[in-house]
Amino acid sequence: MEMDYLMCLVVLDRERDWARTAEICEVSEAALAQTLAAAEARYGHAIVRPGPGFQGFTPEGERVLGWAKDLYAAHAELQEVFHASQRKARVAPLLARRSVSPKRLCAPGPDAAEVELMVQAALRAPDHGSLHPWRVLEFHAQERALLADRFKQEKRRRDPLASPADLRLAREHATRPPVLLAFIVSPKARTQVPVQEQWLAAGAALGNLLNAAHQFGYGAIMLSGERCHDAVLRAELGVGPEEFLAGFVSLGSVAHAPPREAAHQPRRGALALEPWHPRTPDRARARRATATAGLNRPAGLPRPPMFHPSEGCCDGSAPMCHASGELLVGDRKTGRRFLTRSRLSRTRSGRCCRLQKAARRPIQAARRPVGAPSASSHKEPRPA
Ligand SMILES: Cc1cc2nc3c(=O)[nH]c(=O)nc-3n(C[C@H](O)[C@H](O)[C@H](O)COP(=O)(O)O)c2cc1C
Repeated sequence: MEMDYLMCLVVLDRERDWARTAEICEVSEAALAQTLAAAEARYGHAIVRPGPGFQGFTPEGERVLGWAKDLYAAHAELQEVFHASQRKARVAPLLARRSVSPKRLCAPGPDAAEVELMVQAALRAPDHGSLHPWRVLEFHAQERALLADRFKQEKRRRDPLASPADLRLAREHATRPPVLLAFIVSPKARTQVPVQEQWLAAGAALGNLLNAAHQFGYGAIMLSGERCHDAVLRAELGVGPEEFLAGFVSLGSVAHAPPREAAHQPRRGALALEPWHPRTPDRARARRATATAGLNRPAGLPRPPMFHPSEGCCDGSAPMCHASGELLVGDRKTGRRFLTRSRLSRTRSGRCCRLQKAARRPIQAARRPVGAPSASSHKEPRPA
């Protein structure tokens, strides 16, 4: 109540008008006058000058106003501190997540129902087109020894001179964590959603999965390593040629908490968020950017671009495409059809390949009317 009254004084000083002050303070004018009269009675002095309308503060009133401003400012600051603390509490679980090395994990790990909920959380990650471009493999306890053998064999393939200690370590990667999952990125071909967005969706899903584990109180870490690129191991795990074995998620109770982060170092955030400053790119740079737009492939796509007998090309991640601005879609059911330049501008970001040189010939072909014979007679995939 006292703060409300002090706030009214501060507002009255700013507005210099009873009606507006009452409105802002959400009280009636009569109630405002009554509150002020009560305060004057307690103070023993008039606070505002008498007269019609607002005539200003008395000298004693000015002193009260000074205290009111100080108190009001301190109160506002305190409120802000409370709000900031409440805001932070809301995201505290996200801010507190840390990866926990398998060496720091112990049994029990999450049970089947908890793992299922973690995957549910992963499925709630943003996912353009709901393509679900990822999947998770779970290795049950009875299969761990077999997996350990496969890890050991992979280590031998990679390093024929691996020591027994190295091989034991490779096996331990499969046996040590109480729960072990493989996270596989599975980009979908023949969709308008660019493969880059599918990768982001997969990353977001992984983040949700790890955060869900943290929320359950488990330690978790995602580790990839060379073995993820081993063709034999990939095949043994059933990772398809279009897929990418992103890594293995170890899960368990936290036996030893990871070392504390240095509190004084702003973690990653320093450059993660910055305001946009309008820029005017120079013309040459803008032209270069336009020319190369859509030609970049992120590293690690499932396979290199392939040139297709349909005179399109594709890396399995997007429709057949040409660099010229026309898009050729080959589909078993609908047959070929040509898309116009304006259509391409909408699908442009879905283009998949580095086409600078190799696409020149297909461009010519793409300009042929539908059904016209191909200028190029060969039917074999062209080298990229
Ligand atoms: C896809 C993926 C693969 C990773 N592979 C490895 C790895 O092989 N070795 C490693 O030390 N960290 C790896 N990391 C990083 C760790 O999982 C972890 O994020 C890092 O140690 C930082 O710890 P923090 O999550 O507590 O910030 C990988 C992370 C991701 C997302």
